[in-house]
Amino acid sequence: MNQMTARINIAIDGPAGAGKSTVARMVARDLGYIYVDTGAMYRAVTLKALEAGLSTEDDAAVGKLARELDIALLPGKDGQQVIVNGTDVSQQIRTLDINRNVSYIARLESVRKQMAELQRRMALAKGVVMDGRDIGTHVLPDAELKVFLTATPRERAIRRFKELGDEPGITLDQLEREIAERDRLDQEREIAPLLQAPDARLIDSTGRTIDEVAEQIVQWGLAIARTISTEEK
Ligand code: DC
Repeated sequence: MNQMTARINIAIDGPAGAGKSTVARMVARDLGYIYVDTGAMYRAVTLKALEAGLSTEDDAAVGKLARELDIALLPGKDGQQVIVNGTDVSQQIRTLDINRNVSYIARLESVRKQMAELQRRMALAKGVVMDGRDIGTHVLPDAELKVFLTATPRERAIRRFKELGDEPGITLDQLEREIAERDRLDQEREIAPLLQAPDARLIDSTGRTIDEVAEQIVQWGLAIARTISTEEK
């Protein structure tokens, strides 16, 4: 990308399985930006909390654990590598067990506070594509481009089902029900719920390819960055 063009932050929010992480990674690659998968951060905390035998309701204990974790996100060959205290946990955070517990951990106030602070620091220098549930509304309310990406629950379940590989350990219908339940927990929680920011642009990815969606966001991003560059001159 032209060095003279301003760098912006791009927030991509939406429910599970809408394609956020794949799209966000492609947009970051095309713009030469850094991709931050905030769901992976909540998953990493969940993994460590479960390993430590903590209750997913224990705000103080899980918050303390979250503060002491060193979470690093590195660009990997097949997506983002998640390193916690020096160990690669990228695979371990994608299991059904983590899927089932992460929404409870993500409800905890001290965990959200800690993660949001970390995420804001990552975005300070601009040039970040961050995906999650509360990025446009809460973490980066000043992001120059906000996108709310969604798809029907069935389509999202099919995508997650494929991710689980040859032995999914769950039926598609069950997975659709679990996704709907996770949506409900994410939307109804008190702190920073899953919500479309009023100034976010809505994309329904049902029946659209990931490439089409990513290209649309890149074009919006470039247009905004060019406008800012022109205004700054
Ligand atoms: O995007 P994902 O499925 O990896 O997210 C895992 C969970 O973390 C999901 O249940 C919602 C939660 N989450 C959140 O509450 N806030 C974020 N910014 C990102 C994820």
